[in-house]
Amino acid sequence: MLNTEKLLSKFNPLTAEVSGAPTVKRHLHDLRGCFADAAAFEKAAAAGNPLLYQVAVVEPANGDGDLHYGVGRLMPGKIGDEYFMTKGHLHSWRAAAEFYFGLTGEGVMLLEDEATGESHMVPLEPNGVVYVPGDTAHRTMNTGKTPLTYIGVYPAKAGHDYGAIAKNNFRCLVLERGGKLAMIERK
Ligand code: F6R
Ligand code: MN
Repeated sequence: MLNTEKLLSKFNPLTAEVSGAPTVKRHLHDLRGCFADAAAFEKAAAAGNPLLYQVAVVEPANGDGDLHYGVGRLMPGKIGDEYFMTKGHLHSWRAAAEFYFGLTGEGVMLLEDEATGESHMVPLEPNGVVYVPGDTAHRTMNTGKTPLTYIGVYPAKAGHDYGAIAKNNFRCLVLERGGKLAMIERK
């Protein structure tokens, strides 16, 4: 049995901090290649390198059946018409699914079936839980005006594979069109 320290962790739903857990930070320059409007990206990147998101990662154990979770905080903002987003990834162990629990703010998740490219835009909001099936690339976007915070729970052995997304990006993008949220195919 794990000791009490590993059995209980406490997250702050506003700051997305977990005491004792390491935090990964991603800044604008880390997202080069993710946004469709390259000119808007370069303009923003020349002006600065703000923090776009951070994730506190809790890894109590690493056995076959164990679970990990991350608490994310994604800032509001846009590059061109596209909302601030996470890099997005597949799990290295493709079968690994994940639950995302919305905590604060307004956002969406873009889910893309690796084999078929079938895409869905699913709201990520307080009291909402998004199921990310296995074999599905996933990216989170903040569509609101305040920080979006959420928890993702995934198998300890899921791993992260950023390669396919870094190479081909997602098939679809999520942006604001005429004051409305839209998912459109990338040209
Ligand atoms: C873990 C998971 C989340 C993300 C986080 C940041 O499997 O999906 O904890 O890691 O939302 O997104 P990425 O990892 O795409 O930078
Ligand atoms: Mn994941």
